[in-house]
Amino acid sequence: MNMDLSGRTAVVTGAASGLGLAIAQTLGRAGAQVVLSDLQGEAVAERALELQREGISALGVGGDAASEHDLTELVRAAQAFSANGGIEMVVNNAGTQHVANLEDFPVSKFRQIIDLMLIGPFMLTKLVFPGMKERGHGRIVNMSSINGLVGFAGKSAYNSAKHGLIGLTQVAALEGAEHGITVNAICPGYVDTPLVRNQLQDLADNRGVPLESVLEEVIYPLVPQKRLLSTDEIADYVTFLCSDAARGITGQAVVIDGGYLAQ
Ligand SMILES: NC(=O)c1ccc[n+]([C@@H]2O[C@H](COP(=O)([O-])OP(=O)(O)OC[C@H]3O[C@@H](n4cnc5c(N)ncnc54)[C@H](O)[C@@H]3O)[C@@H](O)[C@H]2O)c1
Repeated sequence: MNMDLSGRTAVVTGAASGLGLAIAQTLGRAGAQVVLSDLQGEAVAERALELQREGISALGVGGDAASEHDLTELVRAAQAFSANGGIEMVVNNAGTQHVANLEDFPVSKFRQIIDLMLIGPFMLTKLVFPGMKERGHGRIVNMSSINGLVGFAGKSAYNSAKHGLIGLTQVAALEGAEHGITVNAICPGYVDTPLVRNQLQDLADNRGVPLESVLEEVIYPLVPQKRLLSTDEIADYVTFLCSDAARGITGQAVVIDGGYLAQ
């Protein structure tokens, strides 16, 4: 299978940590030039330097993935950095979480999550689509979740954004289909990242038990494979979707969840 991404440039949001970082690393190792973007400007610049030390052509750009201004600047920086001036791949990955019952959920927090995890991907897609259409090639991967397919109590904003992102994925797939652009969503289950570790640690602290007990008692009973997924296995799938081998796959919400939704 040809997974060579040489000569192509990828923009990954939320790339200072967790899934975004693993995706940027894996795309870079497959030959792509990678532009890592994150709200944590210093951290993302450092991650890009680490990739450069590996021989990967990488650029770190600080910015807010919910801001039209910052996304416009990100696209400009990526085009200037790209050897051919184009952006062939975008991974809309930046995300955050807030857990509260509906009646306690601050409206401002709900809006903030929708802004970042739904309107941000829309704006970045809108910015790169004209160039992709012109070149007759493009790959967009949107990081949804199993929470984009089923509900989860306490996560009204996150679930709404992740469901909406699948709708956006389908529309963008239809509009890009005749132009060689594929658009897909990935729906991971529990992946071992700082976001998940912090949530599990909070739960462990509330219960006064070690994190391992939360995994054994709360998470593993929900996951048939009884493990957290690794960032690498999600990043490998994203890289496949970005490759020529996946040119016929578009408008899909691909579930990678260790069996969670099979029950
Ligand atoms: N970890 C999981 O189990 C899991 C499962 C399904 C989906 N996801 C999704 O994967 C994505 C990445 O999650 P993760 O677990 O790697 O989390 P993470 O917290 O490790 O990484 C998220 C990154 O996004 C960045 N970020 C946050 N707000 C931002 C903003 N406004 N602008 C730019 N960057 C911002 C953070 O600084 C961080 O580097 C998220 O969209 C998340 O919803 C994660």
